[in-house]
Amino acid sequence: MKKIFLLIILICTTCDFLMSQPPAGSSQADRKPDVLIATGTLNTDLVYKVNGRDGRLYQVYLGPKLDNALSLNQSRDQGHLAYPTFGTDNLFEPAIRMTHNDGNPSLELVYVSHNTDKPDANVTITHILLSDPQYPVEVTLNIKTFSAEDVIEQWVEIVQNESKPLILYNYASSMLNFDADKYWLTQFHGDWAEEMKMQESELTSGIKILDSKLGTRAHMYQTPVFFLSLNDKSDETTGDLIAGTLGWSGNFQFLFEVDEKGSLRVISGINPFASEYKIEPGKIFSTPAFIFTYSNHGKGQASRNLHHWAANYGIMDGNRPRYTLLNNWETTYFSFDEPKLTALLDDTKKLGLDLFLLDDGWFGNKYPRNNDRAGLGDWQENKAKLPDGLGYLVKEADKRGVKFGIWIEPEMVNPKSELYEKHPDWILKLPNRPENYFRNQLVLDLTNPKVQEFVYNVVDGMLTASPGIAFIKWDCNRMMTNAYSTYLKDEQSHLYIDYVNSLYGVLEKLRQKYPHLPVMLCSGGGGRVDYGALRYFTEFWASDDTDPLERVYIQWGYSYFFPSFAVCNHITSWGKQSLKFRTDVAMMGKMGYDLKVSELSDKELKFSQDAIANYKRLSDVIWHGDLYRLISPYEENRAVLMYVSSAKDKAVLFAYTLNSRFGETFNKVKLQGLDPAKTYKIQEINIAYEGRRFGPSENGKSYSGDYLMKIGLNVGSGAPLTSTVFEITE
Ligand code: DGJ
Repeated sequence: MKKIFLLIILICTTCDFLMSQPPAGSSQADRKPDVLIATGTLNTDLVYKVNGRDGRLYQVYLGPKLDNALSLNQSRDQGHLAYPTFGTDNLFEPAIRMTHNDGNPSLELVYVSHNTDKPDANVTITHILLSDPQYPVEVTLNIKTFSAEDVIEQWVEIVQNESKPLILYNYASSMLNFDADKYWLTQFHGDWAEEMKMQESELTSGIKILDSKLGTRAHMYQTPVFFLSLNDKSDETTGDLIAGTLGWSGNFQFLFEVDEKGSLRVISGINPFASEYKIEPGKIFSTPAFIFTYSNHGKGQASRNLHHWAANYGIMDGNRPRYTLLNNWETTYFSFDEPKLTALLDDTKKLGLDLFLLDDGWFGNKYPRNNDRAGLGDWQENKAKLPDGLGYLVKEADKRGVKFGIWIEPEMVNPKSELYEKHPDWILKLPNRPENYFRNQLVLDLTNPKVQEFVYNVVDGMLTASPGIAFIKWDCNRMMTNAYSTYLKDEQSHLYIDYVNSLYGVLEKLRQKYPHLPVMLCSGGGGRVDYGALRYFTEFWASDDTDPLERVYIQWGYSYFFPSFAVCNHITSWGKQSLKFRTDVAMMGKMGYDLKVSELSDKELKFSQDAIANYKRLSDVIWHGDLYRLISPYEENRAVLMYVSSAKDKAVLFAYTLNSRFGETFNKVKLQGLDPAKTYKIQEINIAYEGRRFGPSENGKSYSGDYLMKIGLNVGSGAPLTSTVFEITE
């Protein structure tokens, strides 16, 4: 009984009783009919109700699809306020807070109207307009549902028509309410080179906040993603949960408040910390989208929903192919010249890769970029290293039948640069305080339109001069500290928000001119991995840590929220593992190389060429198949996952033995997502160049899907740091 109650997460009547008192002046005689506003996807309903007595909007349901959402009209459950304000009778954390220009610090929101748009058969946008009965302030709650993917986006638009500006202090994108016995929060924290470490804890009474205050990027210590499991902890296949994330490349906040009755409010949006925002009359303040999916089949289903949504809507060109590439960062760092680079073009060709990516160090003349202490901001080819310019390299690449890509970091400047000398007012730095460096650099003031133009021109100028450039890696190696914008003058609290919106403005303009150029998002590793930026980027650099053992955990973490085609993994010389292990780890996402090809033995080279050919043959399944995480490295000394094509006729399984104790044996692994009635052939690929097979006796065997999913396969060996890849074909 309790289970059923909890499963459907109906919202208790009494919780918001206090908040549901009619606004002063209204009476029972004024009561209007309730209005039910049902939104939802194929498998989820999110339902609101306008209470005719007080005119306020309540969330009455969030959970698995109801047979008839309209039946909630008969329910006496009032639900919880959908978007609580501050200053009148709300006693909990508000979703929105403002001070009117007459100094009144309160906001009251009542329902005005709602309507829906249907851009296509799969997508519905519901707009619910609320307004303050006393002040000309309007707030629109937008709910965009992606039916087939079971994903919902929520964002808010705030407009004021008072005679003078007013100040906004809180401006959540979304507020969701839950009533469950217990709440389990899974968060992902880390640092540079140790991204996406997973932690799970029970939410207790009071407030828990996940946030960031880094300014230029969403994160370094916390990634803007979470799972919230209801009642019991969820696992890969069971449990009710939401997976949530914010599409915003700056300061974010997720606030979880468990009240005295055990109800939970989840408020998501831009971090309001030090960011009060003045809105001018008639101007719209729009929040970024909070993106979530509800799953009642555990975390695996939640991830697959997000992956499908990301491919179809969330990531730039999500359904187009990606390039395999050779990057020179870890092999040359700043030390290269034309002959060295042309040799790397040869290596790109030799391996069978699509593209060569020239990383940091190619620019700056007065202050050459020969290390990370100089040159950033001076985007002219360094004459000593590249006497014939980028155009020459593009041509050389073309001669070899490979493409050419380039690294930039256009939002930043070294104090040792001509840009710093010419435009000190374009740089974020506090007056009366010393400059504060991180990686010897400062952040440009992107809120200034001149800086926006400069950044646009850096990219556009380069692409115009060398139209053959086929790929960009856009880096952002520091957060904001000691930041002050000369341009914003007395509106310094706008900086965090305006910076990100200005960045999006530049990216938008670039995308109009270069709609399909692949661009890798990088931020000193994975510091800017969020769905706000990924609207403009085709992929992201997940971490500077390329030790494959660490990568198993990092990539595992990303896989919960981001699809494999976007997660760039390079085979490098970090770590002491075999080339096979390094290759197999990189292959579970978007594979690339960053190692000295010239130092590979013949056998290693042949192994790599074959692995790249395998990858190209299987990349559609790896990138767009359904991901099933079978054994978690957080639970065993191994990690096993597989991708299955939508037709269930092809699958690729990756198994990594991370560590093992003397005599330890591993059980068979039950596969998922196959068709029980089909027969599948198991073939081991990426066989180690020593000729030793790590996959025990399964190579060449055939089994039914039913057998594979109920009895399972022996995968991997007991030896530490070994791996197996199985191609599974109907
Ligand atoms: C940080 C990135 O994460 C690296 O891959 C590399 O591009 C360096 N920046 C270059 O400075």
